[in-house]
Amino acid sequence: MRVAVLCGGRSSEHDVSLSSGASVREGVAAAGHEVVDVRIARSGAWQHDGTTLSLEPGGGLLGADAVFPVLHGPFGEDGTVQGLLELLDVPYVGAGVLASSLCMDKVVFKEVLAAASVPQVGYVAVREPRWQSAPSAVRAELAELGLPVFVKPARLGSSVGIVKVTSADEIDGALETAFRHDGLVIVEAFSGGLEVECSVLGLSEPEASLPGEIVLKEADWYDYAAKYEPGGMELVVPARIPEPVREEVRRLAVDTFVRVGCAGLARVDFFVEGERVLVNELNTMPGFTQTSVYPKLWEATGLAFPALCDRLLEVARARFAAERGGHAF
Ligand SMILES: Nc1ncnc2c1ncn2[C@@H]1O[C@H](COP(=O)(O)OP(=O)(O)O)[C@@H](O)[C@H]1O
Ligand SMILES: [Mg+2]
Repeated sequence: MRVAVLCGGRSSEHDVSLSSGASVREGVAAAGHEVVDVRIARSGAWQHDGTTLSLEPGGGLLGADAVFPVLHGPFGEDGTVQGLLELLDVPYVGAGVLASSLCMDKVVFKEVLAAASVPQVGYVAVREPRWQSAPSAVRAELAELGLPVFVKPARLGSSVGIVKVTSADEIDGALETAFRHDGLVIVEAFSGGLEVECSVLGLSEPEASLPGEIVLKEADWYDYAAKYEPGGMELVVPARIPEPVREEVRRLAVDTFVRVGCAGLARVDFFVEGERVLVNELNTMPGFTQTSVYPKLWEATGLAFPALCDRLLEVARARFAAERGGHAF
């Protein structure tokens, strides 16, 4: 197969995507495929071999049989690039337009899960105009969540713009910080649970990996530095939770994947409080370097990195064939 690996992108996770892209290029090549390296500059231009591409609906992407978009965050993981790839009419790895955008928005994602009574932390969504016009009413609503709370831009990732608030007088500043990134902010009640993550792979009958536990070395919570600085965290596989709780994590990971209509891959993140398993979020394009959690969990479950890339490309082609044949997943 000729595989275009897309990385970079316009989001603040550009550099993370470049690292993920380098690993995926290696994995795809090791699986025996031809790699076409396509970079998206911070400006948004798509580039290959030093030239900027002009893309045409229905025209594919440089003759690729499949595209592996290894993009994180806005303009990459949020359905926009997926929409463009649909228009180019080429199979691509990962979730389609709706699941990508739904999972990028922490508020919409939580609303969809809440409708199915999936356990989650309590939360309040705050739009900037409302905060400007009725700050006291917003403060009163947020007080119901208790303390600490986590204040987050609704549509970002890699912990960028997130503030943990431990006293009421820090709320205003935390909201202002989050609003610098996004006009929609989510404020969440604190969970003191273990952070457990589970990798999902497949399409109509997806499989879940062994759950892994995030152990932080110094950080108080899983912030940008803990995520990306060497030694910031340790992944313990399997998570040190009782077997029935592990099974509940895997069940909920697959259930969530299917519920939001994901395809190919997702990493579903949880807080585990004793026997209670709360869904935190679902990443449709999780970090994908050789040492990232998503592939590490598969490796521990018996699926090596190149084989994982190969499976994802297979799923991408199967989905494309089914959808173009009139069968949507
Ligand atoms: N409600 C919460 N309770 C406790 N810790 C939280 C909560 N929300 C977020 N965190 C901490 O912040 C980190 C990043 O939050 P998350 O919602 O996963 O954002 P991102 O999409 O940037 O990864 C989590 O991994 C966790 O360490
Ligand atoms: Mg997260």
